[in-house]
Amino acid sequence: MNNICLYDDGKHKYYLLGWEETEDPNMVPTNQYLIVHENKGFLLDPGGAHVFPRVLANVSEIIAPENIEGIFYSHQDPDVSSGITMWLTIASRAKIYISELWIRFLPHFGVFDKNRIVGLKDRGEKGVRFSGYTLDFVPAHFLHAPGHFNVYDPISKILFSGDIGVSLLPFSQRVQIYEGDFKNLVSAMEGFHKRYMTSNAACKIWVDRVSEYEIYMIAPQHGAVLKGNVVKEFLKWFKTLKCGSDIIEQFYGR
Ligand SMILES: [Fe+2]
Ligand SMILES: [Fe+2]
Repeated sequence: MNNICLYDDGKHKYYLLGWEETEDPNMVPTNQYLIVHENKGFLLDPGGAHVFPRVLANVSEIIAPENIEGIFYSHQDPDVSSGITMWLTIASRAKIYISELWIRFLPHFGVFDKNRIVGLKDRGEKGVRFSGYTLDFVPAHFLHAPGHFNVYDPISKILFSGDIGVSLLPFSQRVQIYEGDFKNLVSAMEGFHKRYMTSNAACKIWVDRVSEYEIYMIAPQHGAVLKGNVVKEFLKWFKTLKCGSDIIEQFYGR
């Protein structure tokens, strides 16, 4: 798939990079995103080793990889971060942003140079400066990883939500951006969120936290980007969702 520009004001752009073209039932399809401000890039959850060549090709259509100044990992899962050593080599000036909880696990990916790693503190951080713009690193803990972050971009008003807001539609029905009736998306979201999210307490505090923002789109690491009224409807649904430890008996078959 070609890159899709979700936001463009001439100076600041936000891209959904292409995704897997063929269906592999053994592999969850992933989304990657690139923020470009003037000629500098910030890459969001660039993905695992398996998708690296495709994502690199997508990025290279937009900017030179050495112009990537930051790479963000929402959490430690392999579909998010197992390509990290390749990105550190190709994006030779980029710093890595990840929860400080995961830093001591990075040597297991072959990452030993701590000078390029910025550990995010649990409470997150607002207004982190990059070349000509700022980003907010928003806590989203236990949704699902114990150290999980989102990124809010105040210019595009897009919230990159990692594993939150994921929809797993059948391959033939996949859409890049969804702005239809939220009810039609629930069945593609419910199973994933009930099993992977840890509890309603985690959902609720996150919804309260992100409700501080005006959100134009929610951009998750899997499935459709949520736009317009779908954003509000999703937040309402997620705030009351019983999941994880709330319904743990059913995972034991009781
Ligand atoms: Fe994950
Ligand atoms: Fe994921």
